[in-house]
Amino acid sequence: MSERWAYLNGEFVPESAAGISIADRGLIMGATVTEMTRTFAQQPFRLKAHLARLYRSLRFLQVDPGLTPAELQARTLELLHRNVASGEAGMEYGVIHFVTPGPLAYYADLDPATVRPTVCIHMFPLRWHPYERFFREGVHLVTPSTRHVPPQCLDPKMKYRSRMHFFLADREARLADPHAIALLLDLDGNLTETSGANFLLVRDGAIETPPTRNTLAGVSRDTVFELAGELDIPVRERDLQPHDAVNADEAFLSTTPYCLAPVTRFNGVPIGDGRPGPVLARLLMAWSERVGLDIVAQITGGDVTAADWLGR
Ligand SMILES: Cc1ncc(COP(=O)(O)O)c(C=O)c1O
Repeated sequence: MSERWAYLNGEFVPESAAGISIADRGLIMGATVTEMTRTFAQQPFRLKAHLARLYRSLRFLQVDPGLTPAELQARTLELLHRNVASGEAGMEYGVIHFVTPGPLAYYADLDPATVRPTVCIHMFPLRWHPYERFFREGVHLVTPSTRHVPPQCLDPKMKYRSRMHFFLADREARLADPHAIALLLDLDGNLTETSGANFLLVRDGAIETPPTRNTLAGVSRDTVFELAGELDIPVRERDLQPHDAVNADEAFLSTTPYCLAPVTRFNGVPIGDGRPGPVLARLLMAWSERVGLDIVAQITGGDVTAADWLGR
């Protein structure tokens, strides 16, 4: 197997040669916007939606990557083609885009007029072992004392890399349970999101999820809305508190790499009967049908499938 390729600032280069300046403002200021798209059967899923969100983030940042969305898409497909052709058969990939405003002219001793944004695409093989446990035991969410950055400071509609608050929140959650994931509250005590997923719950047959005022408008969350429409499951966006989570019938996370995962405990309290529920099962089955493979079986190796949770 040969080394994977990356795309950096106009060129395809081996990953080991994809070096970024130590003066890059992505590193110095955390000024990076990013996306992650995944493949199903080596084909990118909702790449256009991810790129559209990236360009909305870039517009907000007032950074011009020097490529149109169509050009960036073409380079992404070319990179995927190169890496799939020389990679492990049957491997799925996470495809990362990130863009920064480029080096800080003062640190790099550059004329500011010559500074160009840093534009990178790279890929990594999706390994399932970090997620298997979610489908066997369910996710335990813990609300740490570290709060989400208020939207008045950083609009969460932008997918950004300044993740110190998420890092600290997850570390705190793991003090309560080494396998717990942090679900951050906002400053008013409303539920927001985890460091990498949106939170959704089910109550009286309807899905409820926090609004995008304080959470990322996840592409997977949008997919849930579409699938729920097809399945006649009502969806409501509204402010939710821990009280709503512990009293939910079901809860789950949505995110690109594993799509949907059951949340079975919240701050130590079982959600519903503490097992994955039928609404999540129906969504996962519909999603699996859409992409032509069993998502849960792909992650767990086949001994757990969403259909196991249907009759509950
Ligand atoms: C903070 C945050 N919320 C939610 C999500 C889920 O978004 P998506 O479904 O587009 O992957 C992510 C994805 O990484 C994220 O970083």
